[in-house]
Amino acid sequence: MRDDDLADIGAALLAWYDREARVMPWRVGPQERASGQRSDPYQVWLSEVMLQQTTVAAVRDYFRRFVEKWPSVTALAAAEDADVMAEWAGLGYYARARNLLKCARVVATELGGCFPQTAEELRKLPGIGPYTAAAIASIAFDEPATVVDGNVERVISRLFAVDTPLPTAKPELTRLAEVLTPRQRPGDHAQAMMDLGATICTPRNPLCGLCPLRPMCEAVRLGLQTDLPRKAPKPEKPTRKGFAWVAIGPAGGVLLERRPDRGLLGGTLGFPCSDWSDAPDPTPPFAADWTEAGLVRHTFTHFHLELRVHVTRTARKGMTKRETFSPAALPTLMRKVWQVADSAHSPHHG
Ligand code: ADE
Repeated sequence: MRDDDLADIGAALLAWYDREARVMPWRVGPQERASGQRSDPYQVWLSEVMLQQTTVAAVRDYFRRFVEKWPSVTALAAAEDADVMAEWAGLGYYARARNLLKCARVVATELGGCFPQTAEELRKLPGIGPYTAAAIASIAFDEPATVVDGNVERVISRLFAVDTPLPTAKPELTRLAEVLTPRQRPGDHAQAMMDLGATICTPRNPLCGLCPLRPMCEAVRLGLQTDLPRKAPKPEKPTRKGFAWVAIGPAGGVLLERRPDRGLLGGTLGFPCSDWSDAPDPTPPFAADWTEAGLVRHTFTHFHLELRVHVTRTARKGMTKRETFSPAALPTLMRKVWQVADSAHSPHHG
């Protein structure tokens, strides 16, 4: 493709973004930018970490609560770990929340509360990989860094009709995305690519009739838009099994434990569990009259999980108080466990 064609694509994309940019609580829109407003690096960082593996719709309310509670990176750095984990509960991928705090504390204590302004320096911080570093550098600091997420890979693979399947195609797609990144308004360009991928150049039924890049799209020219990007088949997810133990006190408190920092759901609060495996250990955390309340199914990135939920009533010490037990502060898996246990032990609650 010639330089002129690349310039045409970039210009058409930005003109479309100027009209159609999605409104997001962390975003400084094209009009506001034109009148001199700039994004707050803290808000860009926070939103991009939340958006890793999670949709915009799921992130909005979490983002609003976080910035209301912790309006700056120094405020977040001073937060209690447990408060941040509780606000994060339900967003998934909890290593992100632990790294979020680690990163906030490095920025607050070692960098005087200011984020580094280049992708290269940003990448050295905990939890900031190439994608997040490029997103922050381009959106908050106007560095022409190239942002490549799943949306961008799809748009690029169609625009240039890349036939190589993912993930092998990644380096090629990144190189093409780099060629397309402009020196002017790189942050708006990156966000335009992501918006286009999310709203028009969608995985299954792309709305090519509305696409500003249709005249330049190789996939459309070849009639391949729904066949691209090609993908290598994924291996099937295995199913693991386990037991979850829900002990309920006379006043309605429950027995919770914090999981170790490393590993799945690391650092989060939940009900005691067996190991999760083909043949889990069925021994409860203490001897009591446990009854089976039902089965919970949950899917993680690399496996399905089936937990047999067991419930007992007990007057043991170490239970939460009823008032301080909030299912909303638990990860989704543990909320499901609570739902099964609660409806079994008090059927009138449904
Ligand atoms: N997905 C992740 N980051 C985004 C952003 N800044 N704009 C739109 N979609 C996104």
